[in-house]
This record gives sequence, C-alpha cells and structure tokens, in this order.
Amino acid sequence: MTEPFKIAIAGLGTVGQGVVDIIQSNAALIKARTGRDIQIVAVSSANKNKARSVDVSVYEWVDSAADLAGRKDIDCVVELIGGEHGVAHDLVAHALESGQHVVTANKAMIARHGLKLAQKAEYKNVALKYEAAVAGGIPAIKTIKQGLAANNIKAVSGILNGTCNFILSEMGLSGRAFDDVLVEAQAKGYAEADPSFDIDGIDTGHKLCILSALAFGIKPDLDNVLEHTSGIREISSLDLKIADELGYKIKLLGSAHVDEQGHVAQSVEPCFVKKSAPLASVDSSFNAVFFDADFAGQVVNIGRGAGAGPTASAVVADIMDIVCGDIGTVFSVSASQLKDARYMDSSRDEAKYYIHLSVEDRPGVMANISSALSAEGLSIDELIQRHYHVDGPVSVVITTHKTTRYALTSVLNKLQALDCIAEIVSVYRIFNI
Ligand code: HSE
Repeated sequence: MTEPFKIAIAGLGTVGQGVVDIIQSNAALIKARTGRDIQIVAVSSANKNKARSVDVSVYEWVDSAADLAGRKDIDCVVELIGGEHGVAHDLVAHALESGQHVVTANKAMIARHGLKLAQKAEYKNVALKYEAAVAGGIPAIKTIKQGLAANNIKAVSGILNGTCNFILSEMGLSGRAFDDVLVEAQAKGYAEADPSFDIDGIDTGHKLCILSALAFGIKPDLDNVLEHTSGIREISSLDLKIADELGYKIKLLGSAHVDEQGHVAQSVEPCFVKKSAPLASVDSSFNAVFFDADFAGQVVNIGRGAGAGPTASAVVADIMDIVCGDIGTVFSVSASQLKDARYMDSSRDEAKYYIHLSVEDRPGVMANISSALSAEGLSIDELIQRHYHVDGPVSVVITTHKTTRYALTSVLNKLQALDCIAEIVSVYRIFNI
C-alpha cells in the first residue's frame, strides 16, 4: 500500500482552515487524482483555543511552528502564517534546508526572499510552491509555468487585489465614501491585517513582482516594483463619475511588460480602463490576470483572488502536484538562470492619459490649455468642460492619444504655470486591456 503524503499546516487563519476543510471534504477525489492520501500530521497556530470552522483536535498540536521544520515524519510544510520576515520566513528556510517540501500562500516572503529560498529548495531538490500567493484561486503561476510554458511572455497585468477592486466598484456603483467601503471590505475578510498594504498598492506590488519574475525570467525585485507603486487613497468620487460618463472604469492595475531589447517596466497604479475591455467587467472582489504571449496570444484568467475556498484550493493543488512528483523549478527557470532585470527608461514609456484640471471659466482658457499640449506634440483624443460644482471651479477633462511620460510631465509643468488653472486635480494612465 502507498504511504500517505504527510503534511503539517502552520497557520490556521482563514486560509489554513480552508485547507483543512478541502483535505477533509475532498479526500476521496484527491486520492483518485494523485494515487495517495494526504495526511495532516500536525498543525500549529498562535491560539490553540480559538473557535474554528473545522475540527483540528484530531491532529497533533505544535505550539511553536518552528518545530515543524526538520521533522522526518513530515514530507511537506504548508506555511500560512504570512509576513515577509520572521517566523514564516525562518520556518520555510529551515524546512527547505532540511529537505522538506514547502507550499505557501505568502506573497510578501516570495517577492522579497524568493530567490534565496529558491536556491535552498533547488539545492535540496525539494519543491517550493506558491500558487496561492498570486490571485488566490486563479491559476496565474501555473498559467505561466505550464499553460504558456512554450511562449515568450511580452506583458503580464492584472487586477490583483480584491479589496481595492471591491472598494472602487462599490464607490463607482453607489457613490459611497472610500472609508465606509473599506470597513465593509475588512468585514468581508478581503483586506490584509494592515489594510494599508491593500489600498497603497503594496499587496498588488508583491503579486506583480512574482508574476514579472516568472514571466520574464528575472530575479524578483520588489524594490523596483514599489518605486513605481501608487494606491487608491486619492481617487475621488468625482473622478469615478467622470470615468463612468466617458465610458471607463477605474481599476488598480499591476502591470509589467518587456520591450524588444528585453528592458522591463513594472508599475502598480490606478488606471482608466475602457468599459468594453475585458478587465473592466471584472468587478467587486474578483481578480483578473492578463497575459500577452508570443504564440498563444492574449489570455485572461478571471476568478476569486481572496477568501478561504479560492486560496485554499490553490494551496491544495500545489500539494497535489508535489504528491504527483512535480518538484520543478521554483520560478519558470532554475534560480541560477534568473537574470538581473534591465529596466526601461520610464520617461520613454508610452501610454494614453486622462488629465482632470480645475480651471477658471473665462475666455481664452481652452486656447491656453490646447497650446500647452500642442507645444509638446501631445494630441487630444477627447476634451470636455463640465460644471460639477455650483458656483465653484470648472472641470476640464482631457484624454490624450499615446504619448511618453516625458512629454506628459512637460505638459503638466506648463499647465501648472498657467494662471487660469486652479489645480491639476488628477492624472491617470488609460489602459487598453
Ligand atoms: N488582501 C488581499 C486582497 C487578499 O484583497 O486581494 C489576497 O491576497
């Protein structure tokens, strides 16, 4: 008889309980598909006596998660504690060093320490898998490593944070205030323990960093991603309303692409997305990941990016892969083949933009604005003037044709210097997917 595959689960929060639930509920299906039972040998969490949605009393309780590393009766450590450094990282590092497989949902740890951990895993010929770290139940990592394995990937982008997508969708639909919708997202369990990770774009940055490393075969470089990261705190109900009137939605997008010379650009920012584009229809807490591959073409995966079921589904699928003998490389190439990224000069990066100005309502204003744009060769796609405030300033909204960030910055400096412009209210990139 084949021995069961023995795992230990460190962390019994929402995802940890979800993993226990799937393994208990779908045991027969998992065995039919892998040929072996998955046996939970031990569990560990901060609080033994907390009420939980699953019965863990039948498993050995281990007070300190660190004690799971190195145990000969545990084939695979499932790390669901979270956090970039500390207990989670040390547990994973020691487990890999002692020859245990590791499955984790920890995006911050993989984005920050993925290269070193990959070296440890590959040295010991054990697996380090982390499908659940990016977009929960959506197979994003497997899409790159398996489905699109024969392709050069030119771009990878996505709605990677359910909290932000929920907030923007709700604000757009109901006109409710940002803080009010954030509280609801927390209550629904989408938000991180520290929700600033969600709304300041850091969580999206962790996920984009991992996708970018996998897609382009580069070393994960979280600092570069975070240098080009902005979140959704500044988005106003007025911009959401104008976006709607112009036929757009606002989405927090993580996006990375590579040019013909192999230079990479990575950014996380709120973008205008045409309502007819596939990503615009992805609302509420749903996530979506878009790939542009040289032979397969454009691929979009949509699904739930957070919550117990979707995230645990990805964790257990990774465990099942290991049971079936898929150790593979940690990224899409071995750790020793990952290259240092060469980055694009971001001032030369081309995009369309939305520019919202608050202006005085008097003769000559439009002429001044037009000449500031034409002086930099920036071509207007649409231009509208609206009175959104009774007796207040007037909004002038411009959408542009494609231009460089360099030309955009020069135009914004020129506009800023005009007496007739009270304020540059907002500027967003228009994304075409
Ligand atoms: N806080 C994350 C989100 C959870 O809102 O998408 C999944 O990583």
